[in-house]
Amino acid sequence: MLVWSAVTLVLLACLQAAQCRQYTLNVPRVLLPIVPASGVKANFTLKSQAGCFTWKSIKPDVASVQPLYPNEDKQGVTVGEGGGGGGGSGGGRCSREALLTPQSSEKTRLSTVIIAEEQTTGQTLRCDVFVDTVHRIEITTRTRELLLEEEPERFEILGFDNEGNTFSTLRGHRFDWLLLRDEEATHQTSEPEAILHFVRFDDSSYETDPIIGALEARGYYGDTVLVEGVSTGTAKVSVRFVDRVWKDSVAPATVKLLVIENIMLQPAMDVYILPYCIVHYTVERKKQGKTEVVVMPSDQYSLELTNTTVASLDTPSSNVTGLVVGDTEVVLQDKNMLHTPSATKPSAGVHVVPPHHLGYTISPDNIWVLEVGRQYQITVHVFDKFNHPILVTQNVVMKTVLPTSHLDPLSSSQNGSYHFVTAENVGKATIHATLNAVK
Ligand SMILES: *[C@@H]1O[C@H](CO)[C@@H](O)[C@H](O)[C@H]1NC(C)=O
Ligand SMILES: *[C@@H]1O[C@H](CO)[C@@H](O)[C@H](O)[C@H]1NC(C)=O
Ligand SMILES: *[C@@H]1O[C@H](CO)[C@@H](O)[C@H](O)[C@H]1NC(C)=O
Ligand SMILES: *[C@@H]1O[C@H](CO)[C@@H](O)[C@H](O)[C@H]1NC(C)=O
Repeated sequence: MLVWSAVTLVLLACLQAAQCRQYTLNVPRVLLPIVPASGVKANFTLKSQAGCFTWKSIKPDVASVQPLYPNEDKQGVTVGEGGGGGGGSGGGRCSREALLTPQSSEKTRLSTVIIAEEQTTGQTLRCDVFVDTVHRIEITTRTRELLLEEEPERFEILGFDNEGNTFSTLRGHRFDWLLLRDEEATHQTSEPEAILHFVRFDDSSYETDPIIGALEARGYYGDTVLVEGVSTGTAKVSVRFVDRVWKDSVAPATVKLLVIENIMLQPAMDVYILPYCIVHYTVERKKQGKTEVVVMPSDQYSLELTNTTVASLDTPSSNVTGLVVGDTEVVLQDKNMLHTPSATKPSAGVHVVPPHHLGYTISPDNIWVLEVGRQYQITVHVFDKFNHPILVTQNVVMKTVLPTSHLDPLSSSQNGSYHFVTAENVGKATIHATLNAVK
């Protein structure tokens, strides 16, 4: 009888909370660095999406756990109040998050288990925690190419144990971040400090982690830094532990970075052109959101075609002319980057294609039922076999026969690709267009 009533109570509580589901922790396994003599403890926050838990570490001398109440009034529920009457196992508060703190200073791998018990359902979750010494570090970043005068990029250190497992965090430990010369860039004269800068989180638009912020306020660096490119070129960022326990035993990590200009070709998209059609390319530079046109030809930049059979390039005018059917690419070369062939270069595809069919659009509305007295723009489009719209360049000649019985032509583009008309008379009429030549 007693057993049955207990089960009923739990079920009711479960329905009440509308949470009859499996809870999980954000991670099933955590690896934390040992506590060195300096006493720095890299904490990790365990979380559950829902529920309210009490937390316990099997071996608190390896790693301890304490509940966190991020939104004091909303989530901190005292057992008994929020427990639906079923718990009643003690007076501790429950929480959705808990702070895991390494306690062991042993240079050998030790482990503990965190048990989190949900107060309403009694469900228990487990997290295996290992505390070990750091064997190796690496720098992670989203990119090794920084854009000149753009937002700084974030660099973070990953730590590994001697089996190659990644540490969950190194947050709180101090690191020495240095700029070094790229020895391979022998032509480069600039000092690394003229190419890259470290930026404090407080001086950036990035959100500042409180622990990193506190280190930076004291003039130190943590496991995460911001780096910005201040002039084009290459340099290296190197990092090593400050803490004595790892300073000599863990090799510094280094990444080579490239600072490039935020430069673009226009048209930036692939173009489809007919043989003998001319496309004019321009070069644009973006600086802090503003766009400026680079005068071409320039001392620093040059355009190149990857296939000069398909198209030809006239350097003084930056014009590309289609020659035979095929594909090529316009590539922008930066003379400052010639010794770093790995740098991605702005490029745009040029596809020289035969014409296949024509199409029309009319604006406004794009409906072929016109209103007498209204003005319209009729555009003739050329497509290739695969329905790619072909760029109708200045030297294309199209002929369009407009039914003047119904439409009054106002003006046309030189290449015949568009026509302004006024709808004049009621009735039905047909437009004929032909692609005649490329001048
Ligand atoms: C980690 O948590 C412990 C205990 O709350 C605290 O003393 C320590 O300062 C924390 N570590 C860092 C790096 O903030
Ligand atoms: C280059 O192309 C532009 C635009 O298509 C054109 O106006 C100009 O005359 C061309 N220049 C030469 C030298 O072909
Ligand atoms: C250039 O394009 C033509 C036509 O598609 C092709 O026959 C030729 O092999 C290409 N040349 C190179 C160097 O790719
Ligand atoms: C040729 O046609 C294109 C596409 O409709 C248009 O953008 C361009 O201004 C025309 N050029 C001339 C010289 O009429």
